[in-house]
Amino acid sequence: MKFFIDTADIGDIRDLASTGLIDGVTTNPSLVAKAGRDFKDAIREICGIVPGPVSAEVTATDHATQVAEGRVLAKLGKNVAVKVPLTVDGLKTCRLLRSEGTMVNVTLCFSPTQALLAAKAGATFVSPFVGRLDDISENGMALIADIVEIYRQYPHLKTEVLVASIRHPMHVVAAARLGAHVGTMPPGVFRALYQHPLTDKGLAAFLADWKKTGQSILPPAKVAAE
Ligand code: E4P
Repeated sequence: MKFFIDTADIGDIRDLASTGLIDGVTTNPSLVAKAGRDFKDAIREICGIVPGPVSAEVTATDHATQVAEGRVLAKLGKNVAVKVPLTVDGLKTCRLLRSEGTMVNVTLCFSPTQALLAAKAGATFVSPFVGRLDDISENGMALIADIVEIYRQYPHLKTEVLVASIRHPMHVVAAARLGAHVGTMPPGVFRALYQHPLTDKGLAAFLADWKKTGQSILPPAKVAAE
């Protein structure tokens, strides 16, 4: 499963990219507003930090303007994936931008039929929003199960299921169990993936016992120099 980070915060992106475990970045207009940065500058900078796909969303709702915006965004970096909403105009824009060789992420997907159409339009990624469905007492992960199952019936489809609106680590676990290709998550959720209190407790005990031995793995001079 690929891990994308869902943020426009450059500090978080730099920090998490340094782990070598981040495969891409997703942004949306709300995240850009939160970061308080010039949108195009931020996308250029993110593309230079993370080599994988960086989603940058159009803000027009009509096809012609979406295409014009998408072409501008695609030029910001070789790894830009233009994000379009799952509307009929967005699907038309997806099809056209894909024919020009641009990666496209079709976002705001809330049903299996929408996901089928995104794949038919040649989307590189489709983004079903699990958290927002859970928020209204629907089952977000059931939608992921439906989409993964449907796409598997048609092996020629290359669209990747990008699980979005992830709110906690168990969303990541459930998405991975279903075989979703990608999960995009806020930096805090990514950091929660590797944290465990028993790891911290066990490490503290090992280090305390090691100290009692009076030994060091590196030569003493090297330890002192560090
Ligand atoms: C990602 O592409 C989406 O924009 C994002 O995951 C939405 O998350 P939210 O529902 O927490 O705003």
